[in-house]
Amino acid sequence: MTTTYDSIIQLKNVTFSDRGEPIIKNITGSFLEGKITTLVGPSGAGKTTLFRLCNGLISPDSGEIIIKEKPIDQYEPTELRRKVGLALQSATMINGTVFENLSLPLTLKGEALSKEYANELLEDVALGKEYLNRNVKDLSGGQKQKVSIARTLVNHPKILLLDEITSSLDRISQQDIEELIQKVNEKYGTTIIWITHNLEQALTIGDYTWVMMAGQLIESGESSILNHPKDERVKRFVKGDME
Ligand SMILES: Nc1ncnc2c1ncn2[C@@H]1O[C@H](COP(=O)(O)OP(=O)(O)O)[C@@H](O)[C@H]1O
Ligand SMILES: [Mg+2]
Repeated sequence: MTTTYDSIIQLKNVTFSDRGEPIIKNITGSFLEGKITTLVGPSGAGKTTLFRLCNGLISPDSGEIIIKEKPIDQYEPTELRRKVGLALQSATMINGTVFENLSLPLTLKGEALSKEYANELLEDVALGKEYLNRNVKDLSGGQKQKVSIARTLVNHPKILLLDEITSSLDRISQQDIEELIQKVNEKYGTTIIWITHNLEQALTIGDYTWVMMAGQLIESGESSILNHPKDERVKRFVKGDME
């Protein structure tokens, strides 16, 4: 078995189906440690399903998922959740203050978040201290998304899975989020895997890009592959024919 030293997630012949319907079809590939990989493909390609496999919410029918050189099924669920953070488009919040929302990953474990650490997290996502006691219902979509990202940083995950987190944001908030994710990547060496339907974003933010279609990994490599794809289907997709 060859293990590339710098793969943080390895998938080997991973398949997954739901009620007999194949959704992930024999995917083999690696995500590199400390890098930003963008994941693109038409709606229904299986991108979100791939994330659910990578954070252990669902298990493959066959094949292997190896995280940090250890098969995913050998992790305790809490250990896995600490290693692999997930942020979604719909930045889900509980009613209450920013502090209460940031505390959530710890209060669920019966622990408390310190004000100092909360402020540091806010700083990481470019929100001032004054936001700590604001009610989340008074925040804009972009600010909510920042709080949601700060919350996934509480446990300093090695890997951050981002699923369309800027899809519903205006251009400025989108750029804000892109900058702070790049900052997190540099500051903590966090491996980022970012699903986006914005090909411009995939190209500019990504070191590497995966293109998925109909449950398969069609093309992957440095993000510049989006400028000159080899596969005819990817060529059409990039031209917008399939969107
Ligand atoms: N819980 C589910 N039950 C049934 N089908 C699902 C479920 N989740 C996803 N699918 C199907 O799996 C395929 C891939 O979905 P998804 O991973 O959400 O794709 P993407 O994120 O690329 O849009 C789609 O055809 C979708 O209809
Ligand atoms: Mg999706």
